[in-house]
Amino acid sequence: MQRNYEIIDRIEQTGNIDRETLELLLTIEDGALKEYLAAKARETAQRIYGNQVYIRGLIEFTNYCRNDCYYCGIRRSNGCAERYRLSKEEILSCCKNGYELGFRTFVLQGGEDGFYTDGRICEIVSEIKNRYPDCAVTLSIGERERESYEAFFKAGADRYLLRHETADEAHYKELHPEEMSFQHRMRCLRELKEIGYQTGCGFMVGSPYQTFDTLYEDLQFIRELQPEMVGIGPFIPQKDTPFGKMQAGTIERTLRLLSIIRLLHPSVLLPATTALGTIHPKGRELGILAGANVVMPNLSPVAVREKYKLYDNKICTGDEAAECRYCMERRMESIGYQVAVDRGDFI
Ligand code: 5AD
Ligand code: FES
Repeated sequence: MQRNYEIIDRIEQTGNIDRETLELLLTIEDGALKEYLAAKARETAQRIYGNQVYIRGLIEFTNYCRNDCYYCGIRRSNGCAERYRLSKEEILSCCKNGYELGFRTFVLQGGEDGFYTDGRICEIVSEIKNRYPDCAVTLSIGERERESYEAFFKAGADRYLLRHETADEAHYKELHPEEMSFQHRMRCLRELKEIGYQTGCGFMVGSPYQTFDTLYEDLQFIRELQPEMVGIGPFIPQKDTPFGKMQAGTIERTLRLLSIIRLLHPSVLLPATTALGTIHPKGRELGILAGANVVMPNLSPVAVREKYKLYDNKICTGDEAAECRYCMERRMESIGYQVAVDRGDFI
């Protein structure tokens, strides 16, 4: 037993984990050991970020998407998805609301929607930066070409989230249609880093066909890329997609992976995601207690919330931004944490 505590200590000491240790930590049912893993990850986060949790205001500005990922509720073939786009003015009004609520990071997330040309994205980003120079802007709008990423960066975007989804090419093909390229996605991530973005990759836990081997590759990929942010959350089926009848990822495995990622990358920005809050009523709190240090309450107008449904039963779809903001503050306080009113950059 002693030896098992040591393998957890060794993850942090070496910044690495081997394939066998990963499988052991994801399967072992020893309660004390599970608690040791979470405690160690939590202490690591606290050593760097204290008891502060960073909040990001998420603005889901379009659910049009040219892609057809098998897992995603806003894939282009989903005829049941009611499509919407927010205008520049609507996005700016979300930011105004968010700024007053103490948000200092805005995350613009959307499907891969050709309507938002590089020019339009640049206009939106520079106007946000112009009005709120003390705020960070994060983009999460999928794969584009290097020149586009450069233009957004010049316009003032600080961060970019692009989950790699899986670091195993064969697995990638099982999650995505033929026309989507694993190589291109990887290239995007490398370019984003090179350009100077604080870059986030990530994956779903329990996505169909995921194995210990693919998870091991995910962790190795993260080790190579050295992203500033890693977004992971459970896969949750969306009924109108090809994976609509597949099993969801579990809270248990998601929490353990959050802890392992924290130990491997002590200062990484690691969100307790909405998907985690969806599969368990205290999912986000448990995520923070497992080593996460970011939460992303929703700033999208309530009128469109219901429509941005990557997966079923998504939480918070009926709540105003202010409700989510204060709900989140209470939730964090209930576990001894404070939400931080600042940009919350990578340390
Ligand atoms: N369940 C959980 N997460 C999902 N995502 C997309 N569809 C689902 C789903 N059904 C995640 C993907 C994507 C991010 C924006 O949301 O990892 O990168
Ligand atoms: Fe949205 Fe609690 S965080 S209602």
